[in-house]
Parts: sequence; C-alpha cells; structure tokens
Amino acid sequence: MPRHMLQLDYTNALDSAVGPAHGLTLAEIRRSEPRVKAVVARIERERKRGLHGYRDLPADRQMLRMVRAAVQRHRDGVENLVVLGIGGSALGNIALHRALNPPYHNLLATKHRRGPRLFVMDNVDPVQFAGLLEFLGPELRKTRFNVISKSGETAETAAQFLIVCDLLAKKLGRRALARQLIVTTDPEAGTLREWAEHEGYDTLPVPEGVGGRFSVLSAVGLFSAGVCGVNIGQLLAGAAEMNERVAVRNVRHNPAAMLALILYAYYVRGKRLHVMMPYSHQLDDLADWWRQLWAESLAKRNDLEGRVVGVGPTPIRALGATDQHSQVQLYREGPNDKVFIFLEVGKFTTNVRIPRGSRVPEALYYLRGTSLAELLNAEKQATEYALVASSRPCLTLYFPVISAATVGQFILLWEAATTIMGGLLNVDTYNQPAVQLGKELTFALMGHDAYRQQARAFERFAARASKYVI
Ligand code: PA5
Repeated sequence: MPRHMLQLDYTNALDSAVGPAHGLTLAEIRRSEPRVKAVVARIERERKRGLHGYRDLPADRQMLRMVRAAVQRHRDGVENLVVLGIGGSALGNIALHRALNPPYHNLLATKHRRGPRLFVMDNVDPVQFAGLLEFLGPELRKTRFNVISKSGETAETAAQFLIVCDLLAKKLGRRALARQLIVTTDPEAGTLREWAEHEGYDTLPVPEGVGGRFSVLSAVGLFSAGVCGVNIGQLLAGAAEMNERVAVRNVRHNPAAMLALILYAYYVRGKRLHVMMPYSHQLDDLADWWRQLWAESLAKRNDLEGRVVGVGPTPIRALGATDQHSQVQLYREGPNDKVFIFLEVGKFTTNVRIPRGSRVPEALYYLRGTSLAELLNAEKQATEYALVASSRPCLTLYFPVISAATVGQFILLWEAATTIMGGLLNVDTYNQPAVQLGKELTFALMGHDAYRQQARAFERFAARASKYVI
C-alpha cells in the first residue's frame, strides 16, 4: 500500500460500539456482502462496455496533456482566474482549491501565490457578481474566464458568460475574448460549443459519458486547479490508486463497497440522514462537493424498472469543531436517524503551537504547550465518543495527510461508493430528472420562446401562490 492511503474505520458503526438496537452486526455485514459484491462485479463488467466513464479519467494521459497545455497557455502574467459554472461545473473546482491551496490564497501577494487568484462564480446574485467585476476592473487584462457547462445551455452560466463577453469586448476589444476566455463544454454539441468554435475561443472538453457531478477529475476541475498551482498529476495518481481499491470484489478490502454496504444497511433501517463532518477547514468544501454527488445521484422517484420508490439519503455537511457548538445537541439527543462520517487528518500541513506563556491563568494550564492540531483532533475524538455514547453510528475516513494524492483518493472513493449505492438502491445514478423542471421554468420565466407552455402553467401557479399572504 502506498505511504499515504485513505483509510475507512467502521468500528464505531458496529453493534459492539453503539449497541444492538442501533449498530450493525458483523454477521449482518457478512450477509450483505454477496449482494454488494455482485454490484461491484457488474460495475466492473459495465466499465468494459464504456459505462461509468469517470473511472477512466485517472488514467487518461491524453486529457492530462491537454489540460497541462491549456494551463501553460493561461498562466503567465495572469492575476485572476474566474470560473463561471454551477453545480457539478463548480463544486469540484471550489473543493480542490480549498483543500490544496493556502486558506487565504486570494489575499496573498502575487509572488507568494502559486498561481492567480481564483473566483468560482456559481450563482447569479447581482450584488456578488457586480462586486467581482468591480474588483477585477483594474486588472481585467490580467484576468482569464473559464466558463464551464457540459450542456452549454444552463441559464445561470449563460447569463454570466454574456455579461463577461460584453465587458471584455467593450473594455478591451473583441480580440480579448479569444485571448481571455476558456470554454469547457461538451466536445461536440450544445450552444456553447458551437459559439466557441465559431468565435475561435480556446476550449476544453467535458468527456463524453461523464456527468457534471462526476467530472471534477476531467478538464472541468483540473484546469483551474492546475492554473492555481495544484499538482494535478498527483491528484490523478491518487485517484488511480483508489480506482484499483474500489474494483476489488472482496467487500472487506474495498472501501467504496464497504461504505455503500454500511450506509445502505442503515438507510434500510431508517437512518437516512448522512452527516459528513470534516475536522479540517481544508476538507470542508470536499464535503460540500460530496453533498451534491450523494443527493443528486441517489435521490430518485423511480427505480430502474420504472416503479415509484422515492428513495434517497439526505447528505448533510457539518464542520468540526465549529458545528459542535451548533448541531451536536441535535445529533446526540434528537432523533436517532443519522449516520456520521468523520473526516480526520493525521498530520496537518502546518501546525500552530499554543505557547506555554508565563502569565496564563491556572484554569488554562491544560492548553499550554499543546497545539491547535492536537486540540482539533481531540475535539473529533471527544465528539465521536459522545455520539457513540448516545448510540449514534459513526464512520471515520482518515487522511494521513491532506495532499493532492489523498484528495484524489477521496474523490474517486466517493464517486465509486455513489455508483455502488445507486446499484443497491436500484436507481439511475447518473440522471437528475427532478432538476429539469426548475430549469425549464426558469427558461420560461425569462421569456425563452421554446418554453411558452411552461410559462402558462406557471401563471396558474403564481395566481394561487399569492392568495394567503400576511
Ligand atoms: O451534476 C450535474 O449534472 C449538475 O449539477 C450540472 O453540473 C449542473 O446542472 C450544471 O450543468 P451544466 O454543466 O450543463 O451547465
């Protein structure tokens, strides 16, 4: 096993820790193993037929070369990189940046940064967007805009893109568009692809067969990470290591299969809220990335046979130690309907010692000479102990260190666990039909001709919606 390998500890999810009423027994796990093993075997067979495309990304040398070349084209002299995208076209970028760059990267002087400042605009809040444009004004020439949309049709991203194109053209002339835009979209189809090709903008592909929320290890996530100084080779190498582990048929040696087995078993028992609690500021947005992956992939009205099942766990993100002071009362004494997934770090990139000091009040002696890393990890252990004492099942994903390699492992681990969990729930993991209606209504309300029918349906709804207002 390589030196820094993510580990899954499920000791505190077992009945021996949380008691028979709320814990899984090893016998139950053993009984579930054949079913999970069959799902893993099926996925590996399907991969040979070109399905589960995200699993091919870690070994895609051609893609890596293409992204590295784009990084070279857009690094020198660039002070700001702005990503325009939403959902799966943004969350991975945010997560990689937060996990692998210094916490105050954007505030550092140029010479102390490994790349430009990064802004990921995943909303259309006018105040926020205007604020960014105002900030960028003096450095507009030194700014690159990476618009990311697999479909090339998403309203939020399209609106941002139109604003940016207009701004560049007006302030710097039309030639600035070809110099400063990088369009990441479907390799063949969609409005954005056609537009970019027609105008001669720099482009990167979202690989075929890889959906938005599974695309972080493609050009979608790698370009901004690479420009901002993340070692994307190591990120993919870590993902490749995990790719092997998650293909193993023996569930006891496959962390993605074991995660899916345990979380599915608890789901069936009624523990349908899955709380991811990173004890690391760096990992907080990876938990947010996971939240989308888990929610959008697994929550489905229909199963694969078209039966109405209405399934799906609810993922929740809570940050340790911060949310101990906000959520743990609920987690310990509220309904026992949750499974906790802690993210623990062995060795932090930097540590801060708590000084011994001569004028420390006696009541605080216990802190002297320790460190913030020790305190944070003690808080994790204490919270886990307290939850276990309240019969709440807990899992821990242990990062020996936070590096590009371990982050790559984490991403691939959860993507694979999601596919296996989707197999156990018997749903289509890769679609999101329920998101569609909201998207169509937005088109309709914004006056898109092709959605007049939806606009009429909305008028009836709006008339009813404002009847009882106080
Ligand atoms: O995971 C998904 O498929 C979604 O979250 C999409 O990424 C999101 O809706 C944005 O879509 P697009 O990349 O087509 O603009």
